[in-house]
Amino acid sequence: MRELFHTRPRAGRARGAAAPSVRLLIERGARRLKRAGVCFGHGTDNARDEAASLVLHALGLPHAARPAQLARRVRAADARRAAALITRRIRERIPAPYLTGVAGFAGLRFHVDPRVLIPRSPLAELIERRFAPWIDPERVRRVLDVGTGSGCIAIATARALPRARVDAVDVSPAALAVARRNVRRHRLGRRVRLIESDHFRALRGNTYDIIVSNPPYVGARELRELPPEYRHEPRVALAAGRSGLDSVRVILREAARHLRPRGLLVVEVGNSEHALRRAFPRLPCVWLEFERGGGGVFLLTREQLQAH
Ligand SMILES: C[S@@+](CC[C@H](N)C(=O)[O-])C[C@H]1O[C@@H](n2cnc3c(N)ncnc32)[C@H](O)[C@@H]1O
Repeated sequence: MRELFHTRPRAGRARGAAAPSVRLLIERGARRLKRAGVCFGHGTDNARDEAASLVLHALGLPHAARPAQLARRVRAADARRAAALITRRIRERIPAPYLTGVAGFAGLRFHVDPRVLIPRSPLAELIERRFAPWIDPERVRRVLDVGTGSGCIAIATARALPRARVDAVDVSPAALAVARRNVRRHRLGRRVRLIESDHFRALRGNTYDIIVSNPPYVGARELRELPPEYRHEPRVALAAGRSGLDSVRVILREAARHLRPRGLLVVEVGNSEHALRRAFPRLPCVWLEFERGGGGVFLLTREQLQAH
């Protein structure tokens, strides 16, 4: 009788151990990612969030899973699929959004694949604030996004400013194909126009209330030293000559011609902020601060650009 009592619960525990919960799979995945020393920075900044995005994707669960979904038991085959995705992340150093095909930006979801940079710009915060207090959002009618990639900035801006039309240019036809998919996904075909263009070249005669850009800005040395994850992103989205300023110089030279009176130029230059300050010491840039972190974003009016 006694033996039977001991045997049954043990058998029960063994069966339970074979069916881990979603939460346990995430914890295991996070431990593996941490041990492997992968680089975060493509949508998450820690092992748990990264593991959660991969495990939930593998199990077909929503990215904001509820506690009851996290407590659910997972069949062995599904658990193996989730573990295999974590293994790919570790072995091939592929950023998680390329494995899931989805990235978040400004509270919206975008399709991503290796044809485009993974959205992560701090500009999201400015867009969510509708570019206030720098411009009256109600008077914005036309916006230009230079180097649109996945279309995230153009699309989020169109959502934030429902009275504005947005032109989105990119030199890469492959990136524009992804942006087109996202414009369709967000049903913004009437207000977001995608244009293949080397900076402003195809935009002669067009003027805007806001020109926003997250152009390539990685200098040659920094590019060589980037963690392996970044090598999966298109080089054209990152590389910007020796000092990282090749694209920004074109934007500074040409933007005033495409801005309306009191129009705004907002550009992210990331770590190239120091190179820019050195190269243009008298440029009266306002450097923005962000509550959610990130920096290297400056703002200038058309009048300031003209005066310079
Ligand atoms: C840093 S990525 C930004 C992508 C997207 N706006 C974002 O924030 O996720 C820079 C983008 O600029 C594009 N690009 C590079 N050189 C360009 C050029 N000369 N003219 C227009 N776009 C360019 C790249 O193809 C890439 O999509």
